[in-house]
Amino acid sequence: MKKLVVYYSIGGNTRAVAKRIARTLRADIAEIRTVNAYPDDYDVLVSLGKKEVESGYIPQIVPLSADLTQYETVIIGTPVWWYTYAPAVKTFMKNVKWAGKKVYPFATNGGWLGHTPSDFRKALRGAEVGPVLNVKFEEHKQITPDSAIKEWLAGIK
Ligand SMILES: Cc1cc2nc3c(=O)[nH]c(=O)nc-3n(C[C@H](O)[C@H](O)[C@H](O)COP(=O)(O)O)c2cc1C
Repeated sequence: MKKLVVYYSIGGNTRAVAKRIARTLRADIAEIRTVNAYPDDYDVLVSLGKKEVESGYIPQIVPLSADLTQYETVIIGTPVWWYTYAPAVKTFMKNVKWAGKKVYPFATNGGWLGHTPSDFRKALRGAEVGPVLNVKFEEHKQITPDSAIKEWLAGIK
């Protein structure tokens, strides 16, 4: 059975990692997109993101191009927003029946992963959740070595 990489990305960091993972695993790939665009101004985005995360906001997302029922193993990529996964990923996870699936999350961030791993475990109730990969960036430069990603990939069943 083919694996699926699902990701959300505004600035491109998570997209770049997701594409490499999908290539390596020969997995299908699907992007989570919101119906309404976020502001282009980074500072405005960061403070809007804070409001959304703190209020538990669920943004509307565009229907995913992939049918989740067709995959047993799902890799989920998110940027860290205010110490957790992005709101769009929250919307996505709410709409899927996770029981019986194996899920491997990864999170790109600027060094503050926060409680992202435990939040993933809570949101993915019913799934077998693997270790959460932390991929640190400085703006668009990947700091976490590729070898750490490779090692994590080796554990994906
Ligand atoms: C709204 C918002 C909140 C963020 N909060 C955090 C955070 O809590 N910890 C952190 O290390 N980085 C934080 N960042 C930085 C992003 O996680 C990081 O740049 C990420 O790689 C962006 O992924 P993308 O390019 O795929 O959108 C935040 C960025 C935004 C836009």
